[in-house]
Amino acid sequence: MNDSAFQLVDGVLHAEDVSAASLADQFGTPLYVYSRDALTRAYRAYADACAGCNGKIHVAVKANSNLAVLNVFARMGAGFDIVSAGELARVIAAGGKPQDTVFSGVGKSAAEMREALELGVKCFNVESIPELHVLNDVAKSLGKRVPVSLRVNPDVDPKTHPYISTGLKANKFGVAFSDARATYRAAHAMDHLDVVGIDCHIGSQITEISPYLDALDKVLDLVEQIEVDGMSISHVDVGGGLGITYDDETPPDIGEFVKTLLDRIDARGHGRREVYFEPGRSLVGNAGVLLTRVEYLKPGEEKNFAIVDAGMNDLARPAMYQAFHRIVPVVQRDGATAQTYDVVGPVCESGDWLGRDRALAVEAGDLLAICSAGAYSFATSSNYNTRPRAAEIMVDGNRAHVVRKREVVKELFAGESVLPN
Ligand code: LLP
Repeated sequence: MNDSAFQLVDGVLHAEDVSAASLADQFGTPLYVYSRDALTRAYRAYADACAGCNGKIHVAVKANSNLAVLNVFARMGAGFDIVSAGELARVIAAGGKPQDTVFSGVGKSAAEMREALELGVKCFNVESIPELHVLNDVAKSLGKRVPVSLRVNPDVDPKTHPYISTGLKANKFGVAFSDARATYRAAHAMDHLDVVGIDCHIGSQITEISPYLDALDKVLDLVEQIEVDGMSISHVDVGGGLGITYDDETPPDIGEFVKTLLDRIDARGHGRREVYFEPGRSLVGNAGVLLTRVEYLKPGEEKNFAIVDAGMNDLARPAMYQAFHRIVPVVQRDGATAQTYDVVGPVCESGDWLGRDRALAVEAGDLLAICSAGAYSFATSSNYNTRPRAAEIMVDGNRAHVVRKREVVKELFAGESVLPN
């Protein structure tokens, strides 16, 4: 396993002090299980590295927006990074504060801006001139001024999967680097906007520090130019993106990552500025597993299939990004010989697989744990094939709390209706 919150005890996988087998028996499968301790330790790693510096952590809500998960972070003093009014509502419901929340995203609607402004979010990360105009108009209609930061696109290659790299010229995100200075001037000229910061986010599951340093250097060059133009930049937001170990990746650890960036900012003479981090995956990814039960073993001519009760609707990452998640038996079968299986779900799509060519000693009815399933996992799940979404559990020491009930079928079409006679 990748994370010490999930360990084998006498051959049975445990989440902290609770047997995963007993959780599956009690709450059914598919079942997401999170560890409070793993969430806490990851957040502490960021917070400790920021202590005594001007660092501020804004948890990227999109990675895992369960209220209990957000609440664990809110209790530790986290701020949040949101991309919709819906995420803002979750932050507030989980005990977070709008005043500690930054609003990112390439397509905020005027209605979302209005809501976020009324609630008093700390900063809008704006991505284009048309968006600046809409934000200025909304602020004007409310008689308010808005703190803004521009998301600039530093055009560096984060060396990750193309779908999750965001800082290249060809991506839809951010203001092109060559347009950034002019865009800042445009923002500065608008009556209801206060330019306060700069931000970038170059991608996700980044396992090297060098792309961050390249991006940071470009961003700091720009900050120097913007200040020549008469604006003052109080914070630099370096985005999220730090990778985790799914298989054999060796990302920098959180403390080293934060320190390296803060040191570079200091070395460049920008140490007085606040530095924002927007981590998602590195906080939650290895704090969760998805438990699933083997329904059938189906030997084939070319492949053997282990058909399990979790599908691509429960965990879309393999189908979407060919993402690798380790898959381990929950109860080890001593002495049994492993066979190679494709672990697949019940959804009617050939793309519905969770792991390919996995050596597993399993029988029908056995439980498997799909590891590193805390980030972008439940959050991207769906009801495809009218499958109710899984329950979510948070383990805290020897206690297990249901933090989201399993959906039931009738809820799935409760908002639908047939045509009148
Ligand atoms: N800030 C912004 C503006 C972002 O767009 C993202 C993620 C983050 C922060 C957090 O990034 P993280 O620290 O989690 O890498 N669904 C994909 C990942 C999409 C990431 C989207 N943006 C996956 O499952 O791999």
